[in-house]
Amino acid sequence: MIPDKVPQEDVYHAPQDLVKGAHVPNFEKYKELYLKSIQSPEEFWGDIAKDFFWKTKHTGKFLDYNFDVTKGNIYIQCMEGATTNICYNALDWNIHQRNLGDKVAFYWEGNEPGDELKVTYRELLHQVCKFANVLKSVGVRKGDRVSIYMPMVVELVVAMLACARIGAVHSIVFAGFSAESLFERIMDSQCSLLITADGFYRGDKLISLKLIADDALQRCRDKGVPVEKCIMLKHLSKEQPDSPAASPSPPAKRPCPDLQETPKDKVRKIRPKAQVPWNPEVDLCWHTLVDGASEECEPEWCASEDPLFILYTSGSTGKPKGVLHTVSGYMLYAATTFKLVFDYQPDDVYWCTADIGWITGHSYITYGPLTNGATSVLFEGLPTYPDMSRMWEIVDKYQVTKFYTAPTAIRLLMKYGSAPVQKFRRDSLKVLGTVGEPINPEAWQWYYSVVGEKKCPVVDTFWQTETGGHVLTPLPAATPMKPGSATFPFFGVVPAILNESGEELEGPSEGYLVFKQPWPGIMRTVYGNHQRFEATYFQKFPGYYVTGDGCRRDQDGYFWITGRIDDMLNVSGHLLSTAEVESALVEHPAVSEAAVVGRPHPVKGESLYCFVTLIDGVAYSTTLETELKQQVREKIGAIATPDYMQNAPGLPKTRSGKIMRRVLRKIARNERDLGDVSTLADSSVIDQLFNNRCPTAV
Ligand code: WT7
Repeated sequence: MIPDKVPQEDVYHAPQDLVKGAHVPNFEKYKELYLKSIQSPEEFWGDIAKDFFWKTKHTGKFLDYNFDVTKGNIYIQCMEGATTNICYNALDWNIHQRNLGDKVAFYWEGNEPGDELKVTYRELLHQVCKFANVLKSVGVRKGDRVSIYMPMVVELVVAMLACARIGAVHSIVFAGFSAESLFERIMDSQCSLLITADGFYRGDKLISLKLIADDALQRCRDKGVPVEKCIMLKHLSKEQPDSPAASPSPPAKRPCPDLQETPKDKVRKIRPKAQVPWNPEVDLCWHTLVDGASEECEPEWCASEDPLFILYTSGSTGKPKGVLHTVSGYMLYAATTFKLVFDYQPDDVYWCTADIGWITGHSYITYGPLTNGATSVLFEGLPTYPDMSRMWEIVDKYQVTKFYTAPTAIRLLMKYGSAPVQKFRRDSLKVLGTVGEPINPEAWQWYYSVVGEKKCPVVDTFWQTETGGHVLTPLPAATPMKPGSATFPFFGVVPAILNESGEELEGPSEGYLVFKQPWPGIMRTVYGNHQRFEATYFQKFPGYYVTGDGCRRDQDGYFWITGRIDDMLNVSGHLLSTAEVESALVEHPAVSEAAVVGRPHPVKGESLYCFVTLIDGVAYSTTLETELKQQVREKIGAIATPDYMQNAPGLPKTRSGKIMRRVLRKIARNERDLGDVSTLADSSVIDQLFNNRCPTAV
């Protein structure tokens, strides 16, 4: 499973000062711990669990499960008999047991430079307890679902932890989603309460969140399923006492004390205000409610398998799936992956640029860092606002040591060259991370050399909303890195590669990535639809959890994610990954981004259709096209030679930055019926793409 030896050449190693004092300092230690995690999970996780607070200890097996649909229902049960509370572990336990009350939990950095706040663990606990009492006062009980639709503000963390404290189940909907998407998610999870904000700025763009939330709430009413209450945080209008939101009934007497410390933001003053409709029957003002609430709130002791949260992820049918995670297993897994994958040390300042509305934010902004007592940056803005240097300016400002972002952000910044990066020192950085999609070696090299100045290991973390935390990943001091490879499994994770007939492949091979047994953080069900859970992940290959990703194992045993299996192409009987072809295209100096899809071919089965986005200022030409085809031929082989290519100044992406290949496949086939495109961030690219279609692809 794990190779005895890893190569020492043509790989990247961590610098010596990182190795010294690292939790897992070398590959031998990784192997030893990995074996223990598989052979004696009780002992391995039992040692880890000792660092947490348990109201009662577990009595059953550490993990009890059935992974085989042919043997009955799929279930995963962790630490039967244990009771705990994740909010208590994240806050009270750190404050009382580890004396971290005065430690900064979050440096909040707003969209506008200069707009900032800091919150200590003690302050966070007080805010959470107050809001937990508010939730109780509006009738939220253990097990109730609460939708949260908020920008990246500290109160978003407060809202989620307050839910966790009273055993309510949060369902966070990314604030970039539409009213329709929010409505769909509220309905599916049968929420009784929505928590939102007046609005926020994303760069120059005003998002009137309350307006969108109201639209969603109206749709619920129209369906005859009204949401009882909506709590609104005044984020934009907090310094505008005469705005409509300041006079709900009962009117807010004074602004919330902790908000008064925010430095006045001159820019925002001259900008349009968010539209804030107010329905006194339903709407409640966050600040008014919190003002009178007590700072003490006894946590609700939850059973291990009590639900913690629902998070929706897109499904192949178009209807999103409510991925459900439960308390104890998720807590242990988020905490342990955070600690070991970023080699967390007490003096770290950690920054994950994801939005809390995605699983990355759940596990690696809120739960993982807080259960470790870490200090994090919480950033509301954009990497490109007010200029291309914003990220590096923030790194220097807070002396960030561990930095976690997405390949799409790296490629975007890469387009603007190294100058905006080099305006700042970045000498505090120790570990860099990526997540979300395969990172092409060129982007990896840029991240490693330009951003990290060849001093920081890059942890390419492969995981999914469903897995709760990292499942394939390097450990920064222990794993020699290969650019573009997520390397080896995390503790407790047993991957395999299967062929189309479901046979496990050994040695160098390529096929379906599956997992043979659960780890503590794996999802437990699709909310309200266990049958869909079994059908999606366990039906295709009985006995295995099917990730939906393709994977290659090289001669050294390294795992390389090749992209979603539905992005796999079979050209003349050869399995090809779209990611591989894309990476080859992107290596050309004229190309900034590429997306490759299959197009049916009468002889070869499938042919390759490539969409290429060029670097600013480069013109598309037939000479360039020939060069690009030649480049792919050279990198992969004749079999991968693109059949069709077109200029794509913009690609269809979701708001989280994922390329919607489903849409591109339609364009490649010249099929105008695109299906559901509600998750598309910018729909204007579609016409442009149809107009630019490759003329030979009739
Ligand atoms: C899919 C899961 C996990 C948080 C963000 C996305 C792709 C994710 C990697 C990586 C190659 C990756 C996979 C996976 N993916 N990380 N390091 N290398 N591919 O969560 O929306 O649930 O998407 O993202 O295809 O299945 P998600």
